[in-house]
Amino acid sequence: FFCLEGIDGCGKSTQLKRLAEFLTGKGYDVLTIREPGGSEISESIRSLLLDIRYKGVMDSRTELLLYNAARAQVIAEKIAPALAAGKVVLADRFAWSTLAYQGYGREIDPQMVLNLSNITCGKFNPALTIVLDVSLEESRRRQAGENRVADRLESEAVSFFERVRNGYLKIAEVFPDCVNVVDANGDMDKIQDRIRDLILKRLA
Ligand code: TMP
Repeated sequence: FFCLEGIDGCGKSTQLKRLAEFLTGKGYDVLTIREPGGSEISESIRSLLLDIRYKGVMDSRTELLLYNAARAQVIAEKIAPALAAGKVVLADRFAWSTLAYQGYGREIDPQMVLNLSNITCGKFNPALTIVLDVSLEESRRRQAGENRVADRLESEAVSFFERVRNGYLKIAEVFPDCVNVVDANGDMDKIQDRIRDLILKRLA
């Protein structure tokens, strides 16, 4: 079970797709999921969470609980069965997103966020999470290139994303055995090579 993390616009979804193709080519049976989402119920919760109409309306604790609710469901429906069947699960975000965004970004007590994650995830935690670290400028530049309206989270202030980015770096410092940082400002192919190296080492 592996996960890619990072602030919006860090390039993780593109990198995850390429990683999944690479591992499938090597003969692994791969399940990819995105969070929040990945099952019908979790995708419905995702729509609620990202709806721009709820900007300034959705309470931070509601947000925290909904991210956890979406996760509990996708674990039960998709992740647990896939791991039991011997598949490699690749997640586009998982519980470290909640610590970075709701803990550090929204400034909810990090210990409370971790306690809740334990209730939600139990033993289902990625063996390795790779944080793709980009500057705020680079993430904004990449998002501008996507040419679509920003959702509720993406439309947060720069200061929010600064806290989230620093939160991820802190998480990697505190949990070095299961969270690695990769500099994701540069060439996409080189970043993919680095990600593959780290994952293959864990699969060996
Ligand atoms: P995505 O755009 O990477 O699919 O993620 C959706 C948004 O939700 C993104 O802005 C990050 C945010 N998010 C949280 O705030 N907490 C979480 O636990 C997760 C999984 C995502």
